[in-house]
Amino acid sequence: MNRSAEWPDADRPGLLFGADYAPEQWNPDTWDEDVALMLEAGVNLVSVGVFSWASIETSPNVFSFDWLDKVLDLLLNNGISVALATATASPPPWLTHNHPEILPRQSDGSVLSPGGRQGFSVTHPTFLAYAKRLTAQIATRYRDHPAVVLWHLDNELGGHVPFDYSDASAAAFRAWLTRRYGTIEELNQAWMTSFWSQRYTCFDEILPPRLAPTYVNPTQQLDFSRYSSDAFLHYLRMLRDTVREIAPGIPVTTNFMATTRIKALDYFRWASEVDLVANDHYTIAACPERHIELAFSADLTRGIARGRPWLLMEHSTSAVNWQKRNVPKSCDEMLRNSLAHVARGADGLMFFQWRQSRGGAEKFHSAMLPQAGTDSSLWRAVKRLGAISRCLGVIAGSRVQARVAMVFSYEAWWASELDSHPAADFSYTERVMALYRCFWARGVTVDVVPADAPLGAYDLVVVPNLYLCSPEAADNLEDAARSGATLLVTYFSGVVDINDQFPAGPHPGLLRDLLGVEVEEFHPLREETVLTLHSDHFGRIEADFWAEKVTLRTATPVAHFDGDHPLSGGPAITVNSLGRGKVWYIATRLSAEATESVVTHLLIDASIECQQNRSPDLETVVRTRDDGASFTFIINHGTTPTRVEQSGQELISGSQLDGYLTVQPGQVAVVFRPASIHTQPLAIGRDL
Ligand code: GAL
Repeated sequence: MNRSAEWPDADRPGLLFGADYAPEQWNPDTWDEDVALMLEAGVNLVSVGVFSWASIETSPNVFSFDWLDKVLDLLLNNGISVALATATASPPPWLTHNHPEILPRQSDGSVLSPGGRQGFSVTHPTFLAYAKRLTAQIATRYRDHPAVVLWHLDNELGGHVPFDYSDASAAAFRAWLTRRYGTIEELNQAWMTSFWSQRYTCFDEILPPRLAPTYVNPTQQLDFSRYSSDAFLHYLRMLRDTVREIAPGIPVTTNFMATTRIKALDYFRWASEVDLVANDHYTIAACPERHIELAFSADLTRGIARGRPWLLMEHSTSAVNWQKRNVPKSCDEMLRNSLAHVARGADGLMFFQWRQSRGGAEKFHSAMLPQAGTDSSLWRAVKRLGAISRCLGVIAGSRVQARVAMVFSYEAWWASELDSHPAADFSYTERVMALYRCFWARGVTVDVVPADAPLGAYDLVVVPNLYLCSPEAADNLEDAARSGATLLVTYFSGVVDINDQFPAGPHPGLLRDLLGVEVEEFHPLREETVLTLHSDHFGRIEADFWAEKVTLRTATPVAHFDGDHPLSGGPAITVNSLGRGKVWYIATRLSAEATESVVTHLLIDASIECQQNRSPDLETVVRTRDDGASFTFIINHGTTPTRVEQSGQELISGSQLDGYLTVQPGQVAVVFRPASIHTQPLAIGRDL
C-alpha cells in the first residue's frame, strides 16, 4: 500500500482488512506465526500499539522501542501496513502513581482509580504534557518507517469517561465558557441565572454540573456537554498536530463510536479534523434488530464523513466480553455485519482484535485468531471474509447515494434528554430508530446528516424530535422545503434555542412558520394510555406516550385525536405547504404500524422507489462508482432463500446473472453492473 495523505489509496488491491494487533501481550516467538497467519487471512492493515504506553515508555522519559522496531519491520517485510497508535489510551501505573492529580472525577467528586484504562483527565496539563511527549517520541521514531500508513490517535476518545468533573476540568470549562460568552453577563443571559438566584459575578465562581441538591441549571448542563465533547476534540487536535508536525504526509484518524448508544461526542464537528473517518461498531447480542442498528450506525458514519468512504476500525468476529450475556455471532452473522458496513460506505474492515488475549479483562472477547486456533470454524470464516474483501477491492471509492436524509443532532439529543422535562423517559434515539427502521424495511437508503447539512439534493427529509433548533437549522429546513423537499418533523421539535430557552411566542419556536402550527401544551400520556387517531388518509391509527395540543395556523390536519381524551378532536398530524414543498408534523408518538403508513405514504408521494412487499429480512444497498458502474449488496438476514431480480455479475461467486439471483439464508451477494454493457466482466470472481 502506498503511503499518502490521499485516502483511499487507488493502488490498493483489496479493501483494507485487519485488526488491532497487540504484540506486546505475546512472547516475540509468536510474532512470526502472527504474521504468517495474517497473510493467510488476507490481512493488509493492523493497528499497532493502541494500549502499549507502558511497554514503550517503561518509566518516565525512558523509551523502549526495540520490540516495536522489530514488529514494524516484520510487518513491513511481509507487506502488511500499519495504523500506528499514539499509545496514549491507557496511562501506565508509574504515571498515575507519580501524578494522581491526572485522574478523572465523577459528578459526586469520587476519583476514578487506575487499574482499568482511559484513567486520565483529558484537560489536565500534566497528562497532556506526558501524552504529547509520548506521541512526539513515537512520531519521531517512525515517521520514515514505510509500514506506517496511518496514525491512530488515542482510542475511542471519551468512551469510558465522557465527563470529567475534576478541578482541572472545572478550570478548562471556565476557559471554554469565557471563549464562548466573552463576558459573565452574556453567560448569565444564556443560562438565565435570574432563575433560582444563580447569577454569577465572575467566571471563577462557575463549576461543572456536579451533584447538587436538585436540578442543576439546564444550560449549564448543556454547555458542559458541549465543552466535554470539545475537550476531547482539543486533545485530538493536540495529538494530530504533534504527529503532523513531525511526520507530515501520513494521514491521521481516530476511531469514532457513532451509534445510538454513544451520546457524548458530536462527531459531526470532529470529522473535518481527521484525514479519514473511522468508526467502531459492536452489535448488542440481545437486540433482535441489531442488524438495523448496525445499518443506522453505518449511515450515520457516512453522514459524519460527508459521504466519503470511511473505515470500519473495529467490530467483533463473534462474542464480546461486556454485555450481560455475550452470545457469540455465527460465522454468517460476522460476514453479514462486515459486508453491511461495506455496503453503506466502508472501504475497510477491521476487527478488535487480531489474536484473542490469554489474560486480562478481554480474554473472553473474540478475535480474528481465536483461542481455539486455526482448526476452528471462526478462523475459516475469517479467511473466507479476507478472500471476499480482496474481491471487493473494486468497490473502494464508490459512493452510496440517497434521496432521503434524516437530520440527527447531537445537541438536540443532549438537550432533549435533560432532566426536569415533561417526560423523564423521553428518548431521542427511540424516534430516530422508529423512523429509520421504516426506511430500512423498505430498502430505502437514508443519509444521516447534521441539521446544517446541505439538504437540496434530497426529496424527503426526516427530522425526529429536533427539540433544540438553531436559527441556521430552522432556515436550512425552510430552504429545503421551499425548494421542493417533503419534510417529516416529529413532536417535541423546535422547543428551545441554542441556550435551552424558549424563543419568544408559542411553541414550536423557530419552527412555527415551517410547520404552520402552534403548540399550546405538551401532553405526555399515562403509561397505560393508548390514543386513537382518526385520519381520512390512514384510517384509525394508534399512538402513545406523547401528545400535543396543536392549533392550526397555515397547516391543514391529516389526523385528529379521537376518543375519551382532553385533546380529542385536536390535530395530531398536520401538513403545511411551503414554497414547492410540504412539511408534515406528527404531534404524538405513532405506533409502529402508523409510522410505517406515514413513511410509505411519503415515499410514494415523493416517487421514491421502495420495496413494500419485499422480505422483511432482506437488506439492499447500492454503491455507485463515478463512471456509473454500480454494486448492489443484497443481504439475507432470514432463514429462507430469497430470489430477487438482478442482472450483472455476482462478485463473491463470480457468476454472471441471467436476470435473477437467489441469496441463500444468512448470506450476502454483491452484484456488479458496469456503466456500459460493453464493459468486460470483472475477472475477480471465484468460488468462496
Ligand atoms: C472497543 C475498544 C477496544 C476493545 C473493544 C472490545 O470499545 O476500542 O479496545 O476494548 O471495545 O469490544
